[in-house]
Amino acid sequence: MAALYIGLMSGTSLDGTDAVLFDGGQLTVSGHVHAPFASALRDELLALNTPGDHELHRAALAANGVARAYADVVAQLLEATGTPRSHIVALGAHGQTVRHQPHGPDGYTVQLLNGALLAEQTGIDVVCDLRSRDVAAAGQGAPLVPAFHRAVFGAENQDVAVLNLGGIANLSLLHADGRTGGFDCGPANCLMDGWIAQHRGLAFDADGAWAATGRVSLALLATLLAEPFFAAAPPKSTGRDLFHPAWLQARLTAGVTPEDVQATLLELTARSVTDALRSAMPAVTRLICCGGGARNGRLMARLSDLLPGVQVTPSAAHGLPVDQVEAAAFAWLAQAFQNKRPGNLPAVTGAAGLRRLGCLYPA
Ligand SMILES: Nc1ncnc2c1ncn2[C@@H]1O[C@H](COP(=O)(O)OP(=O)(O)OP(=O)(O)O)[C@@H](O)[C@H]1O
Ligand SMILES: [Mg+2]
Repeated sequence: MAALYIGLMSGTSLDGTDAVLFDGGQLTVSGHVHAPFASALRDELLALNTPGDHELHRAALAANGVARAYADVVAQLLEATGTPRSHIVALGAHGQTVRHQPHGPDGYTVQLLNGALLAEQTGIDVVCDLRSRDVAAAGQGAPLVPAFHRAVFGAENQDVAVLNLGGIANLSLLHADGRTGGFDCGPANCLMDGWIAQHRGLAFDADGAWAATGRVSLALLATLLAEPFFAAAPPKSTGRDLFHPAWLQARLTAGVTPEDVQATLLELTARSVTDALRSAMPAVTRLICCGGGARNGRLMARLSDLLPGVQVTPSAAHGLPVDQVEAAAFAWLAQAFQNKRPGNLPAVTGAAGLRRLGCLYPA
């Protein structure tokens, strides 16, 4: 019988949960469900990214909310694929990141999810809290996906990069000689999403259409690119802790229209990613893109423009649709945990060594 896992991912965009049914032997996905968060839960998760009153109580309730949202998506996925829950070895559940401060001896990272409640509601083994062991071993706890990207997208005799365009952008570097690198590059969609929500009341800028009506402000772009995170050497990871609306607000100058800001934010994503890629992997010939940002035609076109000679393609062209890759990675990490294998790559996260990632709430 196939080794079936379910991967559950809800990323920094806070757009909801992606769940996939993953065959751990074939490394293939045979079902996918996306469900948006209820707006009250989304608002609370967003609010919990910044310090506020009664955080412990609110975080506990939100962790219950995430568990219930995940349990709903698992039920939908099992139903849609006609899979009995007894066929699932485990759920790999990311949880919702609300703080990511991995630096130094007191480093920590917080993904809200009541794993016990999720196990109780689904009757399936839950593997969660997948980042904190790497942080405990002095790593960044992120990105965790490069090892999975290597397993599914790696090629012999070719330098391949994989770019996930979620709330944050992260690159995996699959070198032809077998080495695997990777790091967070900076914002992908989180600033664009926040800006269009503030000015147009929309969740995101579909296909970059609003950005296309503006002009890139080179002065603003230079100010944004001066953020030291962009030039910092890996290992590095980031989140809404750094790239939040106030970060942008503090750098805005008069005379740049809202659509020009949007155009500049799209260019910021394209430039920060491609600058980082060219310096980390000068001989790259293929860039495989996943995450919701890969649906943004204008962003994909800018990536191609800035990387002459590099084939830029959505991950679907390589077997996994763009919305399934990250969720599949967390199913794969649950499989690694269940098989007592390490999940991290110390060369990526900076951890002191290989570590088995996650903790288990048995069904
Ligand atoms: N058609 C589209 N055009 C432009 N942007 C889109 C489109 N569809 C999705 N997006 C963007 O993708 C985002 C969701 O992407 P995704 O789910 O990969 O991010 P995420 O949840 O932050 O994931 P992660 O943190 O795991 O990378 C949306 O918030 C939106 O900004
Ligand atoms: Mg998402």
